Amino acid sequence: MSVKIGIIGTGMIGEEHARRITQQLTGGEIVAVTDVNLDQARAVVDRLGVEAQVYEDGQALISADNVDAVMVTSWGPTHEEYVLAAINAGKPVFCEKPLATTAEGCRHIIDAEIQAGKRLVQVGFMRRYDSGYQMMKAAIDGNRLGEPLIVHAAHRNPEVPERYVTPMAIHDTLIHELDTFRWLLDDDYKSAQVLFPRKTRHAHSKVEDPQIVLLETVKGVRIDVEVFVNCKYGYDIQCDVVGEEGIARLPEPQSLQLRQAGQRSNEILMDWKKRFGEAFDVELQAFIDGVATGELKGPSSWDGYAAAIAGDVCVKAQESGAIEQIDMPERPAFYA
Ligand code: NAI
Repeated sequence: MSVKIGIIGTGMIGEEHARRITQQLTGGEIVAVTDVNLDQARAVVDRLGVEAQVYEDGQALISADNVDAVMVTSWGPTHEEYVLAAINAGKPVFCEKPLATTAEGCRHIIDAEIQAGKRLVQVGFMRRYDSGYQMMKAAIDGNRLGEPLIVHAAHRNPEVPERYVTPMAIHDTLIHELDTFRWLLDDDYKSAQVLFPRKTRHAHSKVEDPQIVLLETVKGVRIDVEVFVNCKYGYDIQCDVVGEEGIARLPEPQSLQLRQAGQRSNEILMDWKKRFGEAFDVELQAFIDGVATGELKGPSSWDGYAAAIAGDVCVKAQESGAIEQIDMPERPAFYA
């Protein structure tokens, strides 16, 4: 029996996820969709050729009898309301990042989930499902590097639009690293500092670019992340974990090596959708399987909350230029 899924928000990633579930993954089907732009929701149903009902709004979709599970892929500020409604309806919910736009909003979700007495939320931090990061995690957990000491990382995009402003380097871009390193290192953050190097001429006036984020973890690991969102040359994710006994480097995406016209070259991807395409597949399959077995795993509300807290402090550090403390509340046993 397949899991009947309702999607709230049929924009770019909502349509991609619906297409994955319909054409690539197993065990799930799209039976309901909604969007503030109902015409767009109808167009997505037509494009996918699915028999899904278009609902007036998210609340109606969540309460529909034939919807077993909800996917929230609408704009960030709407996530909290829909995730809370899904929890209150007792339905499992996959929420794209961010879980909520404030740490306080994430806390409301945690309180509601604990009250419900069952894990109902999976947050869309798909890097945990990337095979390269999983290899790194296995090497660290298998003690092949000894204790991790330092992480050097970079998150580079070819370019960003005019509406992308300085804090978005944290909330939209670094947020993935903030989740990934907690998971990879099994650690939490203690402090953050943000440095602004010389600005690239390719950045528009409202974004400082590049930025260097320096994080310190509770165990004492030092992390430097270059966020460079107008790097021009490609979408490029780099990560080296330096341990006592060795170094693990995130594998490059597979690409053909060309020897031609006196050059040896490899293509660099330009599009994040291609870079993490397989990770999105594995992530959503895990959600469908989790709903089917009644046991959701993967990034939890607590992880969404932890990333939000660290993100808020990084934005504060952007503004102050100082080293800012990150105070994580104690993790409830519910999320152990
Ligand atoms: P988008 O703008 O293409 O789509 C968002 C859709 O939500 C729009 O169609 C909009 O009309 C709809 N919407 C807005 N308010 C709504 C409401 N109250 N009820 C129902 N629908 C509503 O944006 P995109 O790029 O698809 O992003 C959606 C979410 O996914 C964002 O939170 C974003 O951060 C996240 N995202 C995550 C990525 C990842 O790497 N995991 C990558 C891209 C986006």
